Amino acid sequence: MPLRVIVGVSGGIAAYKAVTVVREFVLRGAEVTVIPTASALRFVGLPTWEAISRNSVPVDLFDGVAEVRHVALGQQADLIVLAPATAHMVASLAGGFAGDLLGTTVLASRAPVVIAPAMHTEMWENAAVRANVDTLRSRGIIVVGPESGALTGEDTGVGRMSEPHTIVEAALAQVAPQTLKGRHVLISAGGTREPLDPVRYLGNRSTGAMGVALAEQALARGAEVTVVHAHLEVSLPRGVAGIAVSTSEEMLSALMDAQPANDIILMAAAVADWRSVEVSDHKIHKSDKPETWEPRLERTPDILQELVGARRPGQMIVGFAAETDLDPETRESTAREKLVAKQSDAIVLNLVGDRVGFGEVETAVTLITASPQSLTFEGTKSSVAGRLLDALPEL
Ligand code: CTP
Repeated sequence: MPLRVIVGVSGGIAAYKAVTVVREFVLRGAEVTVIPTASALRFVGLPTWEAISRNSVPVDLFDGVAEVRHVALGQQADLIVLAPATAHMVASLAGGFAGDLLGTTVLASRAPVVIAPAMHTEMWENAAVRANVDTLRSRGIIVVGPESGALTGEDTGVGRMSEPHTIVEAALAQVAPQTLKGRHVLISAGGTREPLDPVRYLGNRSTGAMGVALAEQALARGAEVTVVHAHLEVSLPRGVAGIAVSTSEEMLSALMDAQPANDIILMAAAVADWRSVEVSDHKIHKSDKPETWEPRLERTPDILQELVGARRPGQMIVGFAAETDLDPETRESTAREKLVAKQSDAIVLNLVGDRVGFGEVETAVTLITASPQSLTFEGTKSSVAGRLLDALPEL
C-alpha cells in the first residue's frame, strides 16, 4: 500500500517550490493529494498540481460532501506536509481553524504533520508568529526551516522555505519504520584526493550523494550515524556525526578508529586506488619537468579489506562498486568477484560513466550477496538508499 501523503499548499511565492516537493513524493512512490488554499492557487494553478501529483486536486470544502471528504482525506492520510506554511497558515493551525478543506483535513487527522514555513524575516521574527510556532512545536508538529538566504524582494534573511528535498526527507523520517533504532551506522562518502603538490591532486568525480542519502535514510530509521567524508558536494544532514578527511590514508585512519563502535559499515566512498610516491612541498612548475613526464604512483591501502580484517563478530560491512561496463552480466560478475575478494557481506553495484551515476541523479543499484539472487533498486538516490537499508536485515 503506498504511503498516503497530503501536501497542503498555502499562498506564498514558495508555492512554486512546493511543486518539487510533490514531485519528490510521487517519485518515491507515495500517493499524493495536494490541497491548495485559495490563495495558493493564485500562485500555482490547479492543472499543475493535478499533473504533478497524478491525482485530482480537491479545493472546495463543499465538493464531495456525500463522501464526507472534509474529514475523510485527513483520516486516511499517513502524513501531512504543509509547504509553504505562510504566517497566516501557521496562525490558523495554532488556532485550530477549520474554515477550509485544508483546515478540516488537518484537524481530522492523526497523521504526523510537518510544516515548512516561508515568510519575510520580520514576519518570522514577529512575536505572534513566534508564539504560534512554539504552540505548534509543543503539539508535536515538526517545523522544517525556514532557512536563511535571498527572499522574494531585494532582502535576504531568515524566512526562505527549506529546499524541497530537505522537507521531503524530514517528512518521510516521521513515518519511516525504526528498523535501525539503537544501531550505530558508519558510512564513508565522497571521493578521496591524493596530492601531487600543494595545488594538484589525483581525484575522482564522486560527489558523496549516495553516502549522504544513506546517512539520511539511516537517520530516518532511528540509527546513530557517523559519516567519514571526503570532498562532499552535497550537504551533510543535520544529526549525523561528520568526520572530514581528504586522502585515502586519512579516511583509513578515521574509519578504523570509528569501526569498533559501529554495527553496520557502508563503504560508499570512492577511494583513490593510487597515490603519487613523491608529493612535492611546493607547486611543481613547468620548468621543473620535461614536456612529458610520468608521476610514479603507488597503491593506496584497501580500506574495505582492512575493515573486513578487523571486523568484530556480528558487524556488517558493505562495499560499493561503481563499474563502467555496459553489459549488466559482466558488471555483476565483476562485482561478485569483488565480493569474494574483499569478503564483505555485500557489494552494492552501480553503473557509472560520463553522464551516469554521479551527483543527485536517478540511479539503479544491484545488491549482491553470497546468495545467487541479486536485488535491483531504481529511483532517486534517497529512495534507493532507503530500500538498500531495508534489505540489510535480510542479510
Ligand atoms: N575501496 C577501499 N579502498 C580502496 C579502494 C576501494 O576501501 N583503496 C572500497 C570502495 O570504497 C568500495 C569497494 O572498495 O566500497 C570497491 O571499490 P572499487 O574501486 O570498485 O574496487 P577496487 O577493489 O578498487 O577494484 P578495481 O579498482 O580493480 O575495480
